[in-house]
Amino acid sequence: MKKKLALLTMMAAAVSMSAFAVQADELTTIGYAQVGHESDWRTANTQNYQDVFSEENGYELSFVDCDNDNAAQLEAVRTFINQELDYIVIAPIQSAGWDTVLQEAQDAGIPVIIADREIEADASLYDAWVGTNTTNEGITAGNWLAEYLDGAEANILVIEGSVGASAALGRTAGFNQVAEEHEEWKILDSQSGDFTQDGGQAVMESFIKSYEGQFNVVVCQNDNEAYGAMDAMDAAGITYGVDGDVILISYDATHDGLQYTLDGKINCNVECNPIQAETVKGVIEKMAAGEEYEETTLVEDQAFVAPGIESEYAVTMTQEILDGRAY
Ligand code: AHR
Repeated sequence: MKKKLALLTMMAAAVSMSAFAVQADELTTIGYAQVGHESDWRTANTQNYQDVFSEENGYELSFVDCDNDNAAQLEAVRTFINQELDYIVIAPIQSAGWDTVLQEAQDAGIPVIIADREIEADASLYDAWVGTNTTNEGITAGNWLAEYLDGAEANILVIEGSVGASAALGRTAGFNQVAEEHEEWKILDSQSGDFTQDGGQAVMESFIKSYEGQFNVVVCQNDNEAYGAMDAMDAAGITYGVDGDVILISYDATHDGLQYTLDGKINCNVECNPIQAETVKGVIEKMAAGEEYEETTLVEDQAFVAPGIESEYAVTMTQEILDGRAY
């Protein structure tokens, strides 16, 4: 624990003397190696950590925005180790390549919590994981599409998330699992849009050049990519959503993504919940108290569909749902 000492001076006027009292404030130090600021989801996740791991709550948060740079993220974690912080939280940009730095944290005796995404490392190298099941998110998107199409043909374009990120790998694997069960579906192309609006727009523009008139489904692996894809389709005069020629699927279900879902522009939006810091804090509190803690905590997701669509896999959007979405 890092001790913050506050010196309080009290003047005793009557006897012209000073008395000193030392107030010891103990803040738990947390290092958070954040992916970056690529999406609305990420901004909400960052805000959530800053709110929860505040000084008022007894924490000193060292926050590093790694700007989607894997080397910078490894460096951030090494800096946290050198600073001898109490706990390290990592939202991994890449799923691979963590063994060495995790071993270094373990050797330094600093507990590590992997958050949001998954990593390819032996579970003995970190202490806990808190996140969402992105493979299930992909399966949900696929199941919803099968239900909606009811046997009709699908020619599908996929705008994936960042290469090597478990959120992209999981959503791709889950969706492909369902696609393999449907001979009437064809995945025409699948390219990374890096989880950004600009990336989604650029990939969609290139898809339109190659496949105009040949596709009827676009799957974007997050809301920001969907906004970019919508801009590209608008510019090309391609209609999408419940009244359009193209079925649009998105992931995240952030506020603006759900607004587009309520408006019928996005047909189905599969949630990925960014509000995870309170759960991480709960794990850390148990660790600090020497209590048994959950080594794996799944943050629950649901899916939403545009008004007029009824689904066994998703909730139909309403204004009330949107009003309750703070991020
Ligand atoms: O890891 C979660 C993903 O990362 C979100 O879907 C995306 O928006 C973010 O950038």
